[in-house]
Amino acid sequence: MNILITGGAGYIGSHTAIALANAGHKITIFDNLCNSKLTVIDQLTKILGFPVNFINGDVRNTPLVNKSLKENEIEGVIHFAGLKSVAESVANPLLYYSNNVQGSISLIEAMQQNQVKTFVFSSSATVYGEPTYLPYDEKHPTNPINPYGHSKLQVETILGDWAKSDPEVKASILRYFNPVGAHESGLIGENPNQIPNNLMPYIAKVICGSLPNLNIYGKDYGTRDGTGERDYIHVMDLAEGHLAAIDYLKNNHGSHIHNLGTGHGTTVLELIEAFQEINKVEIPYKFSGRRGGDLASYYSDANKALKELGWQARRNLEQSCKDTYHHLLISNNRAK
Ligand code: NAD
Ligand code: UD1
Repeated sequence: MNILITGGAGYIGSHTAIALANAGHKITIFDNLCNSKLTVIDQLTKILGFPVNFINGDVRNTPLVNKSLKENEIEGVIHFAGLKSVAESVANPLLYYSNNVQGSISLIEAMQQNQVKTFVFSSSATVYGEPTYLPYDEKHPTNPINPYGHSKLQVETILGDWAKSDPEVKASILRYFNPVGAHESGLIGENPNQIPNNLMPYIAKVICGSLPNLNIYGKDYGTRDGTGERDYIHVMDLAEGHLAAIDYLKNNHGSHIHNLGTGHGTTVLELIEAFQEINKVEIPYKFSGRRGGDLASYYSDANKALKELGWQARRNLEQSCKDTYHHLLISNNRAK
């Protein structure tokens, strides 16, 4: 299938590009590089062994998306392009509604003009909000607690309505838990343009000496060891989830929601322990206060994805820690 990957130069999109290309799909990456670098496209070319088709553009530029769909004879879109910092979304909500919601509308408009009706959307477990029970399954009430989460839920609603209005639309909404790790080559991984908000890329910056220590946000949660608990999923498992979603849409119209997670929770201290153990490194850390807007604990029930998509996470936390460190060593060597 000819697939347009918006945000394909970013962390999850670039890993998914590999999974799709290796499965025989023809990929075109569309990205404005606001949180990624052009070198990712070179690395993808190295990994795949052929030049990757890349368009530098903003998804809100409907005429450019329109032209890109037409010229590349696109049959399906995987939409990763979006902003993802909760703190930034609280400080500048309009930026998030413009980029994430208006960007998705622009993309869907261009798709409609080209009769492209297969769509996979990067949503997030953040749409569930404060857990009323755990693990979160797809029936858990949605109650986002920040503009980033609202922007994701709004796009989910738009996709549901689009699918109701046109029986040919096939939309897959994937609610990711916490992606970590890197491709086994170490050539691509998570390289945010700014100081990371998320735990694993922050740890990577501490290990390579760019940041002095990790701050653990809170030690008095009601978890096993008092630190926050999350469901960390290897980014290549997540990438393969998109492949499964594209396959599923071949025979399933309408909109479909699936959690992509491992089903297991890990605390911050457990993750630090696993990382140190497998990579034989020290992670200096300090405890600091809770981060505003953080939840104590959440993890997925991923059985719907197993049942309907035939997908489940195969890689464990040790693999994620190993691959993150491998990527760090390779990118540090490249920078020398
Ligand atoms: P990322 O920032 O690494 O990748 C997003 C990519 O989209 C970047 O390359 C960026 O340059 C591009 N982009 C952003 N706005 C754009 C626009 N208007 N037009 C064109 N390109 C644009 O983030 P990621 O971690 O790979 O996340 C991908 C998607 O998954 C995002 O939509 C994010 O909200 C969602 N998601 C991420 C996580 C996570 O923890 N990483 C969790 C749940 C959901
Ligand atoms: C965060 C977002 C969430 C988003 C997800 C993926 C917040 C409040 N939530 O989720 O909406 O979907 O990223 O983009 O930002 N931690 C530390 N020190 C750090 C960083 C994190 O102790 O420097 C802790 C956190 O308190 C949390 C755990 O590590 O307990 C994971 O944090 P993080 O990687 O930021 O992910 P989430 O909080 O799950």
